[in-house]
Order: sequence, then C-alpha cells, then structure tokens
Amino acid sequence: MKIGCPKEIKPQEFRVGMTPNAAREAVSHGHEVIIETNAGMGAGFDNADYVDAGARIVDTAAEVFATADMIVKVKEPQAIERKMLREGQLLFTYLHLAPDPDQTHDLLASGATCIAYETVTDRNGGLPLLAPMSEVAGRLAPQVGAWTLQKANGGRGVLMGGVPGVGPAKVLVIGGGVVGTHAAKIAAGMGADVTVLDRSIPRLRYLDDVFGGTFKNSFASAGNTIELARQADMIIGAVLIPGAAAPKLISRAQLSELKPGAALVDVAIDQGGCFETSKATTHQDPIYEVDGIMHYCVANMPGAVARTSTIALGNATMPFMLALADKGWKQACADDVHLLNGLNVHAGKLTYAAVGEALCLDVVSASQLVQ
Ligand SMILES: NC(=O)c1ccc[n+]([C@@H]2O[C@H](COP(=O)([O-])OP(=O)(O)OC[C@H]3O[C@@H](n4cnc5c(N)ncnc54)[C@H](O)[C@@H]3O)[C@@H](O)[C@H]2O)c1
Repeated sequence: MKIGCPKEIKPQEFRVGMTPNAAREAVSHGHEVIIETNAGMGAGFDNADYVDAGARIVDTAAEVFATADMIVKVKEPQAIERKMLREGQLLFTYLHLAPDPDQTHDLLASGATCIAYETVTDRNGGLPLLAPMSEVAGRLAPQVGAWTLQKANGGRGVLMGGVPGVGPAKVLVIGGGVVGTHAAKIAAGMGADVTVLDRSIPRLRYLDDVFGGTFKNSFASAGNTIELARQADMIIGAVLIPGAAAPKLISRAQLSELKPGAALVDVAIDQGGCFETSKATTHQDPIYEVDGIMHYCVANMPGAVARTSTIALGNATMPFMLALADKGWKQACADDVHLLNGLNVHAGKLTYAAVGEALCLDVVSASQLVQ
C-alpha cells in the first residue's frame, strides 16, 4: 500500500501523523511511505530521519493526497485537505465528526473510507488512541499548574514540594480517570500533598489499591469537593461524562471561598470545562485571572509537548495502521471489532451511530459492510 502523511495545517498543531519509526515499520512490511517535506519538523523529526527510515519525501500535500492509498494524519482534515480526498482512499486520523457537519458532509461526498482515532476501542472498554493524549495532558497539568502558582504569574507563590520546614502545595484533582491519575502521580512526584476525587466507587477502589500510598482519594460529593477546594493551592479539573458537556463543579460564587492566587487547571476545557469561570485559552496566552484565582484552560495541551505527544500517538496508532496497510481496511476491520468501531464513513455512507444521531443523518451498520 502507498501510505501518505501530509504536514498538519491546523493552526498551532505541531504533531505529525507518522513518526520515522512508524514509517520504518511500514516500509519493513513492504509498503511505500510518502511524507510531505518538513511534516515532522514541529515534532523534531527532519526529512533525513524519514529518508533513513525508507520513506520518500515529496514537496506538497497535493502530491501526498494524489499518490497515497491511505492518508495518516493527526487532526481532522481541513476544508482544503478534504477537497483532495478521493473515492476509495482510506483516511486514518482524529475526526470528531459529531459537532462538525461541514466536515461530515465533505467526507461523505469524497467517497473515502474514514477511520476515526477517537472511536477505536479496546477490550477493556477504553479508547486506546485517545488515552495517550489524556496521559500527556494529565502529566502536563501539574507542570503548568506549578508555573501558574508562581508569584510572577499571578499565583500564590507556593512551591509544589515545599522545603524542609515548609509544607508542600495542596493539590486537588477532580476526576480520577486517565488524566486525573497521571496528574496525581506527577503532582505527588513533585512532592505535593495530593487528593483525587471521583464519583465512581470502582475507580476509587482501583486508585486506593494501586496508589493508596502515593495520594489520597475521596468521593466527589458537592460538599467534599468545596471543602477540599477551600484548602487547595491547585485544583486540576479532569472529569469526563462521555458524550456530555463537563459538569460545572466550582461556581463563580465559590471562587471567593478559595485561597487567593490558587491555580485552577481545567483539562476538561475541551468538553466545556468543569469550572464555571473556565474559557478556552491558547499556548500563546494560557492563563487569566477571575476574582483573584488563576485559570489555565488550554484546550490542546498535548501540543505544548509535540514531540512526546507525536511519539506516544504513533506508538498507539502503529499496530492499527499496519493492520490497515497489510490487509486493507475491509479485512482489517473484519478481523478486529475494535478497529471496526473506528469506522465513521465509507463510500458516501455514515457508519457511526452517535454521529448520525448528533447530525440527524442516516447511518448504515459498519459490521454489515465487512461481511
Ligand atoms: N485540554 C486538553 O488538552 C485535553 C487533553 C486530553 C484530554 N482532555 C480531557 O480531559 C477530560 C478527562 O479525560 P480522561 O481521559 O481522563 O477521561 P476518563 O473517562 O478516563 O476519566 C474521567 C473521570 O471523571 C470521573 N467523573 C465524572 N464525573 C465526575 C464528577 N462529577 N466528579 C468527579 N469525577 C467525575 C469519571 O468517573 C472518570 O473516572 C476529558 O474531557 C478529555 O477530553 C483534555
């Protein structure tokens, strides 16, 4: 198969769909890999790295799209990229179609087969191609929160680990899923006094069994949440109710009960945020203050560490990418129901029920297509 990887063109996106290692594996499976020139620059990979791996560099995205049987990307195709997709071509990338009717209509019109990273599943009921980005954002949260806490940035001027004779920062993590667990591990590793709140008792049991000696956990009742929030120097928002907007867990009125200069890091901002005063920010201008409380609400946190994020994403996508290339999409999806769950669009038909519901469009069963 000819596998093509264009340079990402969405603003502020520095990741790339294929690492040189992914290219090397694909070449070793007998495939041809075509990379747009400088596609990996933002993630610290230059053209020579891809050439070493056996890939071919081309000058333009148009050449990649015209040549490749399968396009591997990171972000959803932008309008100009969608025009270059063609019937029978395979697209493997994040799509997030439900809130995006324009993209959905363009992909249906293209006749391409589109597999979305975010709906590929695993045998534990997880989302293996979303999890690496949650891991990155979770681990980044205490790092950016620690910076926000510094006095010059408007914060309380509290050091995460304290020093001998001075206690550590108190960190409250709301939501103990992938983001929350990784955030808590790193905050505890920085020496902070960490508590994780969740509403899922099985999840609290897991956190207690595995991390009981590293950080505390507590049930996320409204009373518990505000009581612990009042004591916190940093609060990390990491809740998710799948398919729904994030619940608002700290209201504007409650900001006056928090410690002045406390740092709120709202990782759940991509789902609307879990603090009433959260609004999405960018890496250029990541923090702002409301009622004396500092907010960090960057919606694409993994972009700050594009190299780590690219490699983590590439590790997770590689086995699926190889299966698609080795077998073709139909056989690969017939053999693996988790990859089949990633199928969103095929030959002008929508194949993912939740997208159909959100956009009031007809859906055909993905499993019938591979029988
Ligand atoms: N800003 C970014 O760059 C970025 C990057 C990655 C992920 N995210 C977002 O981070 C959020 C968390 O993602 P995740 O992968 O950890 O999800 P997850 O499903 O692994 O974990 C979410 C946890 O929240 C808990 N929860 C739900 N409602 C709660 C409540 N009211 N109080 C306390 N806990 C509650 C759930 O029980 C679950 O354990 C999502 O919105 C995700 O989209 C943002």
